[in-house]
Amino acid sequence: SPSPPSSPSLPPSLSPPGCGELVWLGEPESHRKADSISGKYGVWMQDPEPVPLYGPEMTWRLDAVGSAVRQLFGYEDLKQLSRGFPSKVLLLPESVESTGAVVYRGSLYYQRRKSRTLLRYDLRTESVAARRELPHAGFHGQYPYSWGGYTDIDLAVDETGLWAIYSTSKAKGAIVLSRLDPDSLEVLHSWETSVRKQSVANAFVICGTLYTVASYTMPNTTVNYSYSTESGHGRALSIPFLNRYRYNSMIDYNPARRQLFSWDNYHMVTYDVRLGTV
Ligand SMILES: *[C@@H]1O[C@H](CO)[C@@H](O)[C@H](O)[C@H]1NC(C)=O
Ligand SMILES: *[C@@H]1O[C@H](CO)[C@@H](O)[C@H](O)[C@H]1NC(C)=O
Repeated sequence: SPSPPSSPSLPPSLSPPGCGELVWLGEPESHRKADSISGKYGVWMQDPEPVPLYGPEMTWRLDAVGSAVRQLFGYEDLKQLSRGFPSKVLLLPESVESTGAVVYRGSLYYQRRKSRTLLRYDLRTESVAARRELPHAGFHGQYPYSWGGYTDIDLAVDETGLWAIYSTSKAKGAIVLSRLDPDSLEVLHSWETSVRKQSVANAFVICGTLYTVASYTMPNTTVNYSYSTESGHGRALSIPFLNRYRYNSMIDYNPARRQLFSWDNYHMVTYDVRLGTV
């Protein structure tokens, strides 16, 4: 039986039906290859809990190479993304840092360039609805993932809500996982792992558990660590993960599609996800 949690557990009601541990990942399927250098790395996603004006198929994309990344492209669905025809182009009021953005409940959440400020940009009103500093978070190259790219603050969405994956000087570079209030961006609760953020290629959250990927370049790498916020414990894993294009700059879980969305060397790819029963 599990040992007592070292952090307060989530209420059981927050562990939704169908949740479980990651047991398997499919091979990457490429949906689009970016056609200019600004798309060598980037972030793309669908809203797992969409609200009007946009539906569940709406697909968002930010090419993240450059110092003033502000263009957010919207496509009606995956087919339109493949064809390269955006139906919406939004100019964000402030530049985006890196590949940590997510879309959730009708807002784009992102880190403002060269700051620890998080912004919630409402996609319906096309304006900033909330802004808040992520307390003590390293930014702009203090605690990136192993590939660099100013990936200090990585936002994530799972079945249970909105998360930030980052580090602080107090945590000495170890991964800190915080649950955020999606309206106000306030930190509701934090967990500190024993894994150095710079030692892993990327991380994502499924069902309240953090997973890390070992390499961003090795074609045949693994998801090699998990940290459960329910138990407050981490453990080693070895689930095969393929970096088919050998330069993976973004990995996010989409709980509605039960897939990982990833950006691997110009390619926008998805991976099917299989969860075990608990
Ligand atoms: C996972 O892989 C990274 C990169 O190779 C390594 O630094 C880390 O120690 C590994 N973690 C575990 C738990 O094996
Ligand atoms: C490479 O990946 C396959 C599955 O895709 C796995 O069976 C194999 O063990 C992996 N090899 C190494 C060296 O990790």
